[in-house]
Amino acid sequence: MSSLQNNKYPNKITKAVFPVGGLGTRFLPATKSMPKELMPIIDKPLIQYAVEEALAVGIETLIFVTSASKHAIFDHFDPMPSLKMRFEQQGRMDLVEKVDILSTEVKTVFIPQGEPLGLGHAVLQAQSLISADEMFAVLLADDFIEAPQNPLHALLECAQKTGQTSLSVEQVPSERISSYGIVSPKQWQAGQTEIEAIVEKPPRDEAPSDFGVIGRYVLPARIFDVLKQTPADAKGEIQLTDAIKTLLQREGAHAVQLDGQRFDCGHHEGFVMANLHVAMKDPALRSKISDYLNEQA
Ligand code: G1P
Repeated sequence: MSSLQNNKYPNKITKAVFPVGGLGTRFLPATKSMPKELMPIIDKPLIQYAVEEALAVGIETLIFVTSASKHAIFDHFDPMPSLKMRFEQQGRMDLVEKVDILSTEVKTVFIPQGEPLGLGHAVLQAQSLISADEMFAVLLADDFIEAPQNPLHALLECAQKTGQTSLSVEQVPSERISSYGIVSPKQWQAGQTEIEAIVEKPPRDEAPSDFGVIGRYVLPARIFDVLKQTPADAKGEIQLTDAIKTLLQREGAHAVQLDGQRFDCGHHEGFVMANLHVAMKDPALRSKISDYLNEQA
């Protein structure tokens, strides 16, 4: 049992928000009718990896903020008893295990976002499900993470210890700085730091550092009131980063450095790399892929 699942922390964080209403335009035409979060790393969709990561640290309620065209995500997590029964009758317990994704204790809630008006707007839709004194996690499924320890573990610990916004970060190559929220760390201590500033997708020469925000956040419910006051950016989107900046100035916020590897599957390169990374861990696939790559070299 993880330390987060015992009573060490009085304010256990039990809810996670998954914004899944984005259009996924970078992956058209694949995402014309399929949500980008269902794109698989080999045989498991990105959203399932993120959900499993959350469940592993004691999250009990999964809140999907979704758009009208994303029924497939609901279907993916639906128990589908008829399919399960068919596999059971065939004695295919291996397949039963694969389709039986969520235990009956896990609560799932699907909230429509209405219009895709940005990440901040998506998070705001979860307000009615989070109480005023609660903290909650936000996971962006297109950030696929491979790490020796579940990255949410350190993030939840930091948030529970400080009671403040906590974000996962990693150093990003300079050409990727303008693709992420960038924080300016105060002083690192055991992989954690208070942050001095945060800015959404700055030009590389204006960035306060090269520490980019990964799609893993723990936020206090206070963020909702801030989000309501946060103006839309030039693209008409309400940015979560802008609301975090306001909270940071008011009460502080923390960054936790990722001890592991992050693949940004919102881009072709990250998505292909993530698939290769997972494939190379399978001994049978590994040798075939190595042979293939050697032949191509
Ligand atoms: C979002 C956030 C950004 C963050 C990134 C992590 O950007 O706005 O601050 O660094 O997720 O993946 P998006 O990927 O939606 O463009």
